Amino acid sequence: MTKTNSKANHSEAQGDVCNLLGITDPAMLERHEKAALIAAYDRAATSYSGNEPFTSSDVCNLHRLILGSIFEWAGEYRRADLACKGIKWCRAKFILYEMSNFRRMLERMTPFSPSLSRQEVLSRLAEIHGELIVIHPFLDGNGRTARLLCDLLLMQAEYPPIRLGAFDEQEVQRDYFAAIHDVWEKIDYQPLIALLDRLVAVKPV
Ligand SMILES: Nc1ncnc2c1ncn2[C@@H]1O[C@H](COP(=O)(O)OP(=O)(O)OP(=O)(O)O)[C@@H](O)[C@H]1O
Ligand SMILES: [Mg+2]
Repeated sequence: MTKTNSKANHSEAQGDVCNLLGITDPAMLERHEKAALIAAYDRAATSYSGNEPFTSSDVCNLHRLILGSIFEWAGEYRRADLACKGIKWCRAKFILYEMSNFRRMLERMTPFSPSLSRQEVLSRLAEIHGELIVIHPFLDGNGRTARLLCDLLLMQAEYPPIRLGAFDEQEVQRDYFAAIHDVWEKIDYQPLIALLDRLVAVKPV
């Protein structure tokens, strides 16, 4: 996934995220991204409805489904280092290595099955989600990709997906960021498990 792409390199070096649609208005870009996200959920639910294990290529494909109509670099690992509010995400030069570890985690933990206990579902989801966020393999769209992956895994275990937009609510976002911080700093998944327990509906009988 290290395809050379001079436009993506240029964009990353500039720190900007210039788009394929030539949109310069941030509000309009956000509307396009929201519509693309909903379309991606539809397409992913069809393409990934089976009980197959997930791979790191699937992660890139999900990212491409979410942002491929908008950004040329969708589905490609970033080549710039990124940080946010005290957290330094995985150095770009280690992403391939970390994603091969993540692939092994997916091999071990997926597919999810309807027979898994709720506790097992939540704990696997927290590890998968937390690790993918801490690697932060893409320039943007890592949260959306990790959440879509979680929803597809929930569906494999016959749980409903987490309500779209739940993570944007102020209180949830505060706890979510704190939980991600604990994964990054202490490899502690418990706060993320507790948050997911609040957000994942009880399995329909
Ligand atoms: N201050 C923070 N503390 C902890 N984690 C953070 C913080 N800011 C962002 N994150 C993590 O990074 C993700 C955002 O990364 P990125 O911008 O690549 O994804 P996105 O899909 O574009 O954004 P979003 O998740 O907001 O829709 C968040 O979903 C969260 O998991
Ligand atoms: Mg973002």
